[in-house]
This record gives sequence, structure tokens and C-alpha cells, in this order.
Amino acid sequence: MRKIINLLSAAAAFLAGLNIYAAEDFRIMDCETAYHKADSILKTFSVEEKCLMVRGYEKFFIRGYANHGLRPVFMCDASMGLRLSEKLPENLIRQLDSSTAFPSSVLLASTFNPELSYEYARALGEECRAGGVDILLGPGINITRQARCGRTFEYMGEDPYLTGTMAAEYVRGLQSTGTAACIKHFIGNQTEWYRKSSNSIIDPRTIHEIYLPAFKKCIDAGAMSLMTAYNMLNGTHAGENRELIKGILREELGFKWLVMSDWESIWDLERMVHSGQNIEMPGDWDFGTGVQELFDEGKITMEELDDMVRPILATCIAMGFYERPQYDSSYSERIPEHVKTARKVAREGIVLLKNNGILPLSGGKKILLTGKFIDEVPRGKGSSIVTGYNNTLLGRELAGIYGDDLLVCKNPGLEEIRKAEVVILSCGTVDSENRERPFELPEEEEKWICSVVEANPNTIIVMNTGNATRMTAFNDKAAAILYGWYPGQEGQAAMAEIISGAVNPSGKLPLTIEKNFADSPGANTLPKGAQFFNELKNERMIKFYDVHYDEGVLVGYRWYDTKGIEPLYHFGHGLSYTSFSLGKGMAEVTPDGRIKCEVTLRNTGRREGKEVVQLYVGEKSPSVVRPVKELKAFRKVSLAPGERRRLEFVIEPDEIGFWDSAENGWKTNGGKYVISVGTSSGDTPLNMEISL
Ligand code: BGC
Repeated sequence: MRKIINLLSAAAAFLAGLNIYAAEDFRIMDCETAYHKADSILKTFSVEEKCLMVRGYEKFFIRGYANHGLRPVFMCDASMGLRLSEKLPENLIRQLDSSTAFPSSVLLASTFNPELSYEYARALGEECRAGGVDILLGPGINITRQARCGRTFEYMGEDPYLTGTMAAEYVRGLQSTGTAACIKHFIGNQTEWYRKSSNSIIDPRTIHEIYLPAFKKCIDAGAMSLMTAYNMLNGTHAGENRELIKGILREELGFKWLVMSDWESIWDLERMVHSGQNIEMPGDWDFGTGVQELFDEGKITMEELDDMVRPILATCIAMGFYERPQYDSSYSERIPEHVKTARKVAREGIVLLKNNGILPLSGGKKILLTGKFIDEVPRGKGSSIVTGYNNTLLGRELAGIYGDDLLVCKNPGLEEIRKAEVVILSCGTVDSENRERPFELPEEEEKWICSVVEANPNTIIVMNTGNATRMTAFNDKAAAILYGWYPGQEGQAAMAEIISGAVNPSGKLPLTIEKNFADSPGANTLPKGAQFFNELKNERMIKFYDVHYDEGVLVGYRWYDTKGIEPLYHFGHGLSYTSFSLGKGMAEVTPDGRIKCEVTLRNTGRREGKEVVQLYVGEKSPSVVRPVKELKAFRKVSLAPGERRRLEFVIEPDEIGFWDSAENGWKTNGGKYVISVGTSSGDTPLNMEISL
């Protein structure tokens, strides 16, 4: 009997495990029904109500009308967890005291694990539901173009395929809770230096091949809202850009739902109305004439006004905001689980860049811990900041593991550094939106790191930062380097687990780390003499300046590969405590015209570990300049020592095409292609040719 009960409960647990979310998954209403319902409400709106609805209010709300049974809709920021905005209107009681500080998006991307992206966003969505947040202002999916961008920690790296794949799962996970995603910033926001006045000059091919695909993947995954960017795109501010919103977003990508402006990014309300934008956020920015005045003066029509309000209503209706309770306290019970998710993501997203064998660090040695983030959590600043609770700290976590063998010293002299058997040196930067950050660490800090690695060859560098950072001067002499990004409240515990070997690292770089900034395709982004920090309080007072995306489609590793520039660390690189080998590659074109590739991955080391197999494709004799190779598939696999797995990848020919500027459309040439498979963009041992 007991056996049967055990079996039944095991089966129930198994099914529950498979289906943890299925029972509660939120279903979004279909577009046609939502628009139909929106139209019937819209008919009852006065002109004034329409004019007020196309501007946000109280900073983070879409206006509600009790007389129409519509409550205000609440939004909050994302990127490092749910940011509980401080300024709630007086009539709204905060339902959550605190929210989990999750790892930043760039760390999430480093996991190369789409299922984890789903789980991460699902957890975020649950916090939103517990806190009454209807729309989460993320994920941020701007492609990293240059290492000075202060906001890269909020995005998912330099590759459109990786970003799109991770972000699409994020959208699905988040929206499965009934929280709407808001993909941002559409598009061309690759610098924070006076971002309201920068004019990104990007050609159509580059827009289509590099900057749009991630947005398309999220839209196809059902993203329910989108935020336009601060910058201009080819001469017109993104939030008022008709070609961009009506043309590319609505017509080409088929986006049906809510479009909102970034906060205080609209310069010309009339142009905004004509552009296809739906709502100006936050709505209290005074830039002159209101929508009502424009309407009264006959500058905008009733039809245009309706076209703005309709997607707002349809989105809120489809998400059920007006039907179901805003708060769902049952989700609060799930919050303890989120801490586990935050830890899991940090464990998989911290990247081991270099290791001479010193890691994992066994006990019994005298360790000196010093540097920047010993007793504080490394995190980015700006609208995405989340302080979390019960934050783990590197000093405390390592002390828990190494006990008396660990000496913590904030400012040791070189003599103490020399005497230690091992030095753990914490370094990094605090990046923020609304400013650039130098690629280089401050001169003094870089010098200090150099003298530490010089004085003690057993130095492990722990780097916490939001973007690529120059490490050229001390890289060779460091015994090991761990890239920890901004890892959230559980992150330093995950770092300690990796250092001690309790966890085997498996993160991969979602962006290239170049040797020197001059190597970067975005090296000339800032005007000559520009300081990184934006000195002017009113950003609008700076003269507009152009940012030429002259590298075209050669962004990130596409640039370094094609130009033959060796970076310090390649896109996709990341080590493990075990070793893997790839073999028995096979690539062919199937009878139905698809590309099929098979490879075998084997764990050749002595412990269980995860590896990310990456598949790149390059056209051999392209008719236009194309990158040597581009990521088209990847898979993260966990293997026991000695275990091997045959992996199969199938790619549609459409997925390896290019944007044909003459024809204004996608094209895949016939001819030869090289399929390269490896474990980083710089290490692809299997190269197979196919003919299309
Ligand atoms: C940021 C957005 C953010 C908004 C609201 C802006 O400054 O660019 O990403 O969602 O503020 O906080």
C-alpha cells in the first residue's frame, strides 16, 4: 500500500513539476475581439476623455475613467527585477514592501538558457501581480554596439539572434502571469550621452539585420506593448517617427498593441499624433500645446485621435485589466521561490573568462579578499534600480565557506598582497542610464589591479560591471577572471559557490570584450571632446549630434571576425570546471530545402557541467559585404562526466538571408555556406560546407 501511495505522490509531483504554471497560465484575448470591445467603449468617450487618455498621468499610469468602468493601469520598470516606483498616487496603497533584486538582463543573456529566461520573467510577472503592476517596462532589447553605453546591463548583448531568443521567452514567461511586457527602446538607442539629442543614422539593411530582429521575435511571441526610444532615428525622434512607427512597426512587423513614448521624449505633439504613437509618457511633461488644443485648431482629426486611443484600450482589454482584480495576493506566496530563481540565474550567468587551474579554490589556503564590492551589492543605477532584501555579500559568503582562512582587508599594502597564498580582488563599475561609462577603469584602479597581479600570481579577479571593460593590462598575469555583471541579491552567494566549486560555471559572454576601445566599431560614437557624464540638467539644451552607424551590419563579433581584429574575449566565450569535446559533425540540405546539422558533444572532464553549443553560418561568396559568420542556433546542454549527446539543429533557408536594399526585402542567395559549430565565436572547430 505504502508503495502505491509513494508511486502516486511521485507521479503527482512529476506532473506538477511539468505543469507548474499550466493551470494558472493567463490567456490573452484575441486581437479581433479586443478591438471590437475597444471600439464599443471608444464610441462612448468624449473628445476630452480621448485627448487625456493619449497622455500618461501620475508618472506611471494610463488614465482610467470610473464612469466607463475603466481603472487606471499601472506600470513599473524592469531590467534588474521589479522596481517599485517611489511615487505612487496617494489613493494607491502599495501592496508589496519589497521586490526581489534579480540579476540584470545582460547576466540573464549570459546564461544562454531560454528556459531560464522564461522562469526569470515568470517570477517577475508574479511579483507584478502581487504588487498590482499591470505592465512591466521591459525587456530592454537594444543591441550592444559599443562598450561605453551606460545601459548595456539592461540589455541582452550584441547578437540579434541571442537577444531575440532570450527576450521572446522572457515575454512569454512574463505574460503567462497576466502582466504585459513592454519591449524597449525602439530603436537605435545605443548611446546614453545626451540621448535625447542623438541622431542615430542607420541604413535600412542594418536596421533590418541587426536592430529589428529581436523586436520581431518578441512581437511574434505576443509582446503586448512597446516603448519608443529617446534618440532620433535618421533625423526624426523615434517617438514621433511615422516611418518607424506606422511604417516599420505597424505595417512591416504587424504590431497591433500599445505603443508608448519613453519618458519625456516627445518634442512635437502634433508630429507624434501623426506618427502612430499611442501615448505620451509620463504625461506631465510640459511641451506647450495640449492634444485638445491641436484638435480644436483642426490640426489633428477625430480619426487620428481614435487611432491613438483604440490600441490603448484594446491592449488593456485583451490583458483583462478592466475585468480582473488588479492585485492577486496569491502570487505573494510564490515570492520565496523567486529568490531561488534569482540564485539559479546568477549561477548560470556568471562567466569564467580565464582560469590557470586555481579555481575551484579548495580550502586550507590563506586567502586575502580585497577590492570594491566586498560588502556592497554591485548594481547598475537609473530607472531600473532594485534594492532587494537579504542581499548576499561577497565578504560574508566567502567567510562562510573559508572561515578563518579568509582575511578581508579593504586597503592592503603590497606586502600583504605578496604574503597571501591567494588574493581575490573585486573590481568593477557602477553603470547608469543617462550617461556613458569609459571602457577603461579609472587609471588609479587599473594601476592598482596591475600591481596586485604583479605582486601575487595567485590573484583571482572578480569583475562586476555592466558592459565590456578593458582588462588588457592585467589579463595575462591574473590567475583567473570571473565576470559577474550585476548579479542581484543572490549573486554574490552564487559567485562564492563558483569560486569554491560548489557550482560549476556555465555562463557565456553575450558580447565581445575588445582589447582596446579603438578596436570597436562604435569607437567614434561620441562627438570629439565629449565628457561621459551629461553635465546639463536639461538634456534638450544640447545641440543635436549625429551618430553614424558606419560599421553597418558588422556589429560585435561580426566586426572583429570580418576585420580580423583579435579581441581579448570572444562573444560566446566562457569556461567550465570540466572539459568538453565536439565531434562527428554533419551538415546537409534536406529534401525539403532545410539545413540540418548534427554534432556530438562529450563531457571529457571529471565533473558534471553545462556547455553551450553554438552554430554559426557564413555565406562563402556573398553578393554584398556580409559577416564571416552569424549565430543562428545554440543549445545549452548538461552532461555527466563521460556522457555524450548527439544534437540536431534545423535551420530554415530564410533564417540565413540578408536584407537586399535594392529589392527592399529579405533574400537568401543560392551557393555555398559554411556551418561552423563551436563553444564560442572564436572557437568553432567544426566547419562544414553546404550548397543551397
Ligand atoms: C527610461 C525607460 C524607463 C522610463 C520610466 C526612462 O528614463 O529610458 O527605460 O522605462 O524612464 O522609468
